[in-house]
Amino acid sequence: MDLMKKIWEDAKSDVKRIVLPEGDEERTLKASEDIKKEGLAEVILVGNLKSIEEKAKNIGVNLEGIEIIDPENSSKTEEYVNAFYELRKNKGMTIEKANKIVRDPLYYGTMMVKLGDADGMVSGAVHTTGDLLRPGLQIIKTLPGVSVVSSFFIMLVPNCEYGEDGMLFFSDCAVNPNPTAEQLASIAIATAETAKNLCKIDPKVAMLSFSSMGSADHELVEKVRRATEIAKELRPDLDIDGELQLDAAIVDKVAKQKAPNSKVAGKANVLIFPDLQAGNIGYKLVQRFARAEAIGPVCQGFAKPINDLSRGCSPEDIVNVVALTAVQAQSGSK
Ligand code: ACO
Repeated sequence: MDLMKKIWEDAKSDVKRIVLPEGDEERTLKASEDIKKEGLAEVILVGNLKSIEEKAKNIGVNLEGIEIIDPENSSKTEEYVNAFYELRKNKGMTIEKANKIVRDPLYYGTMMVKLGDADGMVSGAVHTTGDLLRPGLQIIKTLPGVSVVSSFFIMLVPNCEYGEDGMLFFSDCAVNPNPTAEQLASIAIATAETAKNLCKIDPKVAMLSFSSMGSADHELVEKVRRATEIAKELRPDLDIDGELQLDAAIVDKVAKQKAPNSKVAGKANVLIFPDLQAGNIGYKLVQRFARAEAIGPVCQGFAKPINDLSRGCSPEDIVNVVALTAVQAQSGSK
């Protein structure tokens, strides 16, 4: 069964409530109707009621069975304002500022997830990654034991023998510009857990660098080496190794030469990039040159799931990210 089909089946098996705060955006409205029809999630649209209803009518979307919440008229708004103020008062938040901020649908949707009125949130058809992540980072925070929120891509590379028959997890390609060694270790562990939970694969995690097992010396390499040590100390049960060059990580023949004693080298299916420049460029190289399907970026490490869309997304992309978010919500994460 292909991966997205499997994720759809999982989403339908225990339906979750997913809030879409870009409620009057056309692709979001079209996706909402499909999500409802397929039974992938209970959709909650947030935004101006009149605008949502008018847009839906203009594009022929049936909103029956889809909950709409207008922060200006909701009985919950005051509760969310007070809770947001309490969460952020030690950061200089005032009740007046909270009153304004929480009416922003992105903050409103995040508060719904925080207080359990929704199980997850998907946004980003019109907002940037930072616009979505900031309320999530301020309000939802990380899972216990996870130091940073990060992101992963599932790369599906056609006609490819590397990873799991061409399926590999890449991280972090979208959130942390320059993680410390400790943060990089946390990203590696989170991605291994995601690969296990979401795709039921046995993760083999390579900490990527321009050096393999001491072949070069530089402070950038030292960071990856230190991150590998920390990750191994924290989770000796996981197969994590480094530092490894990309070829040593995935090509058996090269691994035998460059890292003969490694359990990961030559077999890696989870690739951890040393920083966001490498990660973001890396996934795009594989996507464009190898014509790979890049599913993501999907966030991991949040105490409750929040996910971003590309601003070029289609209604089908939104449906798929909602299904993925619903599955993350089922496993209490992530
Ligand atoms: N994990 C957990 N908490 C975090 C993280 C993180 N990765 N980053 C920031 N925080 C927390 C901070 O501790 C702070 O908490 P506090 O306010 O309670 O003290 C809060 O989040 C805000 O922190 P700031 O540093 O003020 O946030 P910043 O303005 O730097 O924004 C962001 C953080 C949005 C993640 C930023 O790092 C960013 O823009 N990253 C790159 C996103 C991007 O452009 N990606 C590429 C495009 S996506 C693509 O191509 C697929």
